[in-house]
Amino acid sequence: MNHRDTPTRSESPSSLKYKRKRKNDSHSRYRDVKQNTSVSPLPVETNINDILMSASRIEFVQDDSVYSFIFYGTVSAPFCIDSVKFETFCMKISFVNKTTSVVTFTHTTTVEDEDVEKRVINEKVLEKEVTNQKKLYDSFVLSPFVPRVFAASVFTNKEFNDIISSLQQKQVFSANADKTMMSILRHLHANKSWNVHIFLMEYMDEKYKTLDERSFTMSLMGSETKTFDPTNIRTGYLHMAANIACAASSVGLILYDAHNRNGLSDSQGTDVRLIDVGDAFDLHNDDDTSKLQRMFNTMLSKISENSKELLPSLCSFFDVDEPSKLPERFYDNLRFSDFRTQVDVSIQDIHRTLIMIAFIDFMMNTPDRDSYSSRHSNCRCRYTMEIIYGKNSFINFNSFIINTKCRPRLSVDDFNQNLNIVKQIIMGIIKPESKKLIKRRSTCSILGGKHKKKYKYYHIKTKRYRRIIK
Ligand SMILES: Nc1ncnc2c1ncn2[C@@H]1O[C@H](COP(=O)(O)OP(=O)(O)OP(=O)(O)O)[C@@H](O)[C@H]1O
Ligand SMILES: [Mg+2]
Repeated sequence: MNHRDTPTRSESPSSLKYKRKRKNDSHSRYRDVKQNTSVSPLPVETNINDILMSASRIEFVQDDSVYSFIFYGTVSAPFCIDSVKFETFCMKISFVNKTTSVVTFTHTTTVEDEDVEKRVINEKVLEKEVTNQKKLYDSFVLSPFVPRVFAASVFTNKEFNDIISSLQQKQVFSANADKTMMSILRHLHANKSWNVHIFLMEYMDEKYKTLDERSFTMSLMGSETKTFDPTNIRTGYLHMAANIACAASSVGLILYDAHNRNGLSDSQGTDVRLIDVGDAFDLHNDDDTSKLQRMFNTMLSKISENSKELLPSLCSFFDVDEPSKLPERFYDNLRFSDFRTQVDVSIQDIHRTLIMIAFIDFMMNTPDRDSYSSRHSNCRCRYTMEIIYGKNSFINFNSFIINTKCRPRLSVDDFNQNLNIVKQIIMGIIKPESKKLIKRRSTCSILGGKHKKKYKYYHIKTKRYRRIIK
């Protein structure tokens, strides 16, 4: 979700304060569900009620972000999604309404007892998050870089109360989860017009940490002090490659909230999962592309009025000789290649995609659009970009636009080595190793062969499930 109009926590100097331990209160070891793909005797239905009702334990993960409350659940009987068995889920709960006006509320965080301002969100925005995540998962099913989507739906205030009451009776909540749920119920009681969006997805276990968390390294001297260096971590390359795959593929999504807490990577740095993918432009959607063009034109007129000094840089950024040619050139640069259909992915194409993603990110995240030269302009994917292009190259719009090395056309080979690393990771995403193909085929052959009937059964459920999340 997009944050308030302030720099992201991960980007602000106070970021140290926000070092995110996964605040769950589990005592149990997390199971690696991805390894466990054998066929269960009977799948439970893939709808939210059934998954929740089969929960044997629900634990607290976090409640201090802008919109949601995150939980981690374990079920007593495995459920199947598209013939893969799961025993755990991540539950993202948000308050929703139908209005677009900003509604805020104060929530006292469960673990640290701090007051944070949270927001109620429009239903449609969350639908977009679920649809985008599902699209990305399905399109890259052999090398996924988002958690698998299980189900999502809006529950009325009363329906939600009923579900939680029965779970409370079954005593599935851990102490912190219970405390958070009580707080959620209190807010709902006080605001009867609010409904609740529940999003169930694959839970990325304790091995996964946000890029923000991975940015803290113990000092070499062995002291207790941790240093924060988000541009010095290899997992950043994975986040970036995943971000590029969203845009430069048939999916065509440009994420503009891909900050360092909206992605999780495993301890070996071999797997990344982007989360919170609702804030994105869909390049195949005419409304979105028109919106992008309108935004660019507005930006241009604001710059012409208030920050004229940026115009020549903007022209040379897009390699045009006069400002009137800028809108067309901006749009041309948004035609990303589909890396999956290309014989060879070029470094130039990777570079252009990255620079355009950053450009749109800046356009979206400059709080005061009257002043693009303002030092408050920011880019959510700043740190991952700086892993390739060097510290402070994406510190604000002004310095980004005047930097002759960071233009859509790659003019220097200073970054080739880094871009080649990204290329290798992208190749792993778009042409996953045969190992994964073999693993998948063997799962399917068990389902389609010996247990043919079960396969049909799963298939019916799958269709139903698709209806749920539409
Ligand atoms: N599928 C998941 N598996 C494990 N942990 C998750 C999962 N989804 C979210 N989390 C945890 O919850 C945190 C918040 O998730 P997310 O960004 O989706 O919520 P949000 O309310 O939209 O956040 P914000 O408003 O700060 O952007 C993540 O940083 C991560 O630590
Ligand atoms: Mg988030």
